[in-house]
Amino acid sequence: MTSTLRHPKNDAAQATPRSLTSRSLHWLITLLVIFQGLLGYANLHVAWFHERLATGMLVHEEAGLILLGLTLWMLMLRWIEGRRPADGLSKRQAQLAGMMHAALYLLIFIQSALGIWMMGLLGRGLTLFFWHVGLPITADPRLVFGGVLQIHAAVAALLAFAIVVHALAAFHHHFVLRDNVLRHMLPWRTVTSRIASSR
Ligand code: HEM
Ligand code: HEM
Repeated sequence: MTSTLRHPKNDAAQATPRSLTSRSLHWLITLLVIFQGLLGYANLHVAWFHERLATGMLVHEEAGLILLGLTLWMLMLRWIEGRRPADGLSKRQAQLAGMMHAALYLLIFIQSALGIWMMGLLGRGLTLFFWHVGLPITADPRLVFGGVLQIHAAVAALLAFAIVVHALAAFHHHFVLRDNVLRHMLPWRTVTSRIASSR
């Protein structure tokens, strides 16, 4: 049905599929980033969560470390699989998409670094399930509440803004340009295998 509506140059966008692992990682990371933003905020500003701050912080920290690991994994896969951002798009669109993807990766890394720094400043070290490691950072909780936390909150807001722009761009591709950029990212979708078999 969509074949007659497709933009002529968008067939090229189907040329380089992402692996199932890469697509699944993308959506897992999406869920985790949203979870982190909500939990981080709730821990400090919602009474029910604030009363259970120690547990909430631990969950936020552990989910943050898992998120960092998954993001590194997705970046490594992109490098191994040799995917370019926005394959098949105009040069300008590809540049914009590349910049947006780089910004998303960078913001997640900055956010994780700030979080790890805060754990050190709070004198807590890092915990992931049964594994605990101290951090070579001199404890100084005042620094957390006197600045680092505000930077962490500001980066979270920037990340939220970038995600909204990124998602709107994806919907623009889907509903206006009618190409397969969004379909390509769906874990259950096999656009390319269908196309490959029709060639
Ligand atoms: C926390 C939220 C999100 C983050 C951090 C994120 C991050 C990324 C990154 C880094 C890439 C590039 C992958 C690579 O090639 O290495 C990407 C691609 C993509 N994302 Fe997201 N994403 C998020 C949410 C969303 C949402 C909500 C949508 C759609 C509604 C979406 C749709 C897409 C699409 C269609 C692509 C492929 C673009 C292309 O091939 O150029 N993403 N995302
Ligand atoms: C993309 C990942 C992350 C997001 C979106 C995020 C978001 C947030 C937000 C919105 C807050 C509340 C800030 C405020 O309202 O002042 C917060 C607090 C905090 N974050 Fe993160 N954060 C992330 C990752 C991490 C990581 C990896 C760590 C530690 C390893 C961490 C440690 C903390 C700590 C200690 C707090 C203060 C208390 C608490 O809510 O747990 N964050 N975070």
